Amino acid sequence: MKTYKIAAIPGDGIGTEVIAAGIEVLESLAKKDGGFALRFEHFDWGSNYYLKHGAMMPADGLDQLKPFDAIYFGAVGSKEVPDHISLWGLRLNICQSFDQYANVRPARVLPGIDPPLKLAAPADLDWVIVRENSEGEYSGQGGRTHRGLPEEVATEIAVFTRHGVERIQRFAFELARKRPQRRLTLITKSNAQRHGMVMWDEIFARIATDYPDVQTDKMLVDAATMRMVLKPRSLDVMVATNLHADILSDLAAALSGSLGIAPTANLNPERKFPSMFEPIHGSALDIAGQGIANPIGTFWTAVMMLQHLGEFSAAARLMGAIEQVTSSRVFTPDLGGRATTAKVTAALCHAIEASRGHA
Ligand code: IPM
Ligand code: MG
Repeated sequence: MKTYKIAAIPGDGIGTEVIAAGIEVLESLAKKDGGFALRFEHFDWGSNYYLKHGAMMPADGLDQLKPFDAIYFGAVGSKEVPDHISLWGLRLNICQSFDQYANVRPARVLPGIDPPLKLAAPADLDWVIVRENSEGEYSGQGGRTHRGLPEEVATEIAVFTRHGVERIQRFAFELARKRPQRRLTLITKSNAQRHGMVMWDEIFARIATDYPDVQTDKMLVDAATMRMVLKPRSLDVMVATNLHADILSDLAAALSGSLGIAPTANLNPERKFPSMFEPIHGSALDIAGQGIANPIGTFWTAVMMLQHLGEFSAAARLMGAIEQVTSSRVFTPDLGGRATTAKVTAALCHAIEASRGHA
């Protein structure tokens, strides 16, 4: 039987609550499936670790993670450690060092969920945002001089490489090709950002000729926000830079019902390094420790992890169970319900056990 080694990094805030829930669900799923096993190893890295050791993870942390098949990640962010330190010290460090350049963010309206956007049919909102995850506006380049003085200067440089742009756009075309609509929208801002984004457009036009079966169009990022709200059905897969997709993916999550359900995969498509799977929502310190965090984003993230591992029938079973639970409206407060994390998790495990096939 195939055994996958999964590194669990719950991190900060509600990260610890949702990852514990996710592991419980994944274990009941593996038991039900019977065809594979999951071996979790826990890493207590995060802001508390930083307060004790002065670093978000040990110096050889990346070496420790490398042999794993996947990383299941909760969230980082706490009051005691500045955000840019906690992020760059852990999550962004892993993303960049493991060349997880493709960040995939699906958004759709799950059954039972009442989205804030009025839709003719829930299926009208069914998108995947492909975010460039290794360079662009979050490359980490830039600096500050004359710190604290009136003449202080800070630069934040967006870096676009032909290699980086080509590979993310090809990835998006491949993904779009596998979806029923086969449509890919390039998100750009080449009217104002006249260097990197113009190259981004040119590369897209060239790659598009390799994918005649994918219908393409191009939107300026600001106009794209309007189109997402006013004509959601006209969009399918979107490919965008790190910053643009960061913003659009929060909008997508909110429009589809709640930030609490949105998943993310940080992929190294070449599989030279492990990929990392996490809910979008972050550490949500305002509700941490109350047992009311929505675990659905973490469960949906697990679906993406199973797909990446090639366990497609287990992934489908888990997605089916998620949809069954949302349609029976066992909701945490972010979705207007009163269920706890534990209650949603128990409902999920029950739906898995009751599902058809194997064991
Ligand atoms: C996200 C988050 C992070 C990101 C932040 C916390 C750096 O907003 O996953 O979208 O932009 O990568
Ligand atoms: Mg974000």
